[in-house]
Amino acid sequence: MLIPLILSGGSGTRLWPVSRRNLPKQFLSLAGHGTLFQQTVARTRALPEVAAPIVVASEDHRFLAAEQLLEAGVEGAAIVLEPLARNTAPAIALGALEALKRDPEALLLVLPADHLIGDTDTFTNAVAQALPLAKQGWLATFGIRPDRAETGFGYIRRGEALEAGSFRVERFVEKPDLATAEGYLADGGYDWNSGMFLFRADRYLEELGQHAPAMLAAVRAAHAAAQGDLDFVRVDKDAFGKVPEDSIDYAVMEKTTRAAVVPVSCGWSDIGSWSALWLAGERDADGNLREGDTLTVDTRNSLLRSHGRHLVATVGVEDLVVVTTPDATLVAHRDAAQEVKKIVDQLKASG
Ligand code: GDD
Ligand code: MG
Repeated sequence: MLIPLILSGGSGTRLWPVSRRNLPKQFLSLAGHGTLFQQTVARTRALPEVAAPIVVASEDHRFLAAEQLLEAGVEGAAIVLEPLARNTAPAIALGALEALKRDPEALLLVLPADHLIGDTDTFTNAVAQALPLAKQGWLATFGIRPDRAETGFGYIRRGEALEAGSFRVERFVEKPDLATAEGYLADGGYDWNSGMFLFRADRYLEELGQHAPAMLAAVRAAHAAAQGDLDFVRVDKDAFGKVPEDSIDYAVMEKTTRAAVVPVSCGWSDIGSWSALWLAGERDADGNLREGDTLTVDTRNSLLRSHGRHLVATVGVEDLVVVTTPDATLVAHRDAAQEVKKIVDQLKASG
């Protein structure tokens, strides 16, 4: 049984002021039809022998997740609620334990809920290509051809060829510094880790037990103490609070010797920042990406987003991000869009 595991626990701070703690980016319509979360779920429907998804989300967003699944006509999904965030390695372990309740041989397709994929058919084919590898016990990841020295991604060095266009992962390096990323780009033998994975649920837990045994034990205890009702699986707060925090990339993918990469070219974007959204979006002849009421004179390569009947007008500027909401306006240089997170940090610090 192939079970999509949708990771929806992120907070999307770099897309402030539209993405907020109570309504993070995965639950927003930023591009394409429906919210990013709904598009992620919808993409899994074309997969062969696919079961209802397991969603792992923050307790704070339980109604958002449930309502958006309902609106998308998805039935039979399990929604696992985390009382606090412990990053992706424990979140995936919770999903794996939940999947094993359905099927001891469950295959998990781990999908971040906040990615855009332009070409669903190519994505579907790549998953089909990875299925035999996962059945054989490989931890498969989907590799994206890098076109810039992005430091926010994991990098995968392709090793020996495996079946049907896939490769053994020779080396996995999570979020290298700029000089290292530039070296990997020049080398040409590296793919970006897309953050989407396919593996057997039991194999993931086995690897976690090997590389992060304390984490696995703590997640098992928290899952055993979880309370299930008709709508949600609620993970115990005290027990989950004892789980060490780490991402799958650092905790497992950098360490395992059984990782494989399936290169895929499917118009993927992780919409990590306003500049990533600008890159992925449909820009006009001046290179501007607009949403809502906007007016421009001599404005190029900018992202302009207004809210409601608020008009955003720009004159004689380029490479800007201007985003308005009812209570906040962001003006940033497109190259500095990653730094928007620092505004959110300051807001948090000032309460
Ligand atoms: N349920 C849950 N709980 N989900 C989480 C948590 C958590 O504690 N933390 C993060 N997530 C979700 C996010 O919402 C996102 O959908 C996904 O897991 C990945 O987390 P990010 O925090 O966005 O990771 P990243 O972007 O820094 O890095 C990952 O993705 C890159 C590609 O976008 C890594 O896998 C990189 O190697 C990869 O290149
Ligand atoms: Mg991300």
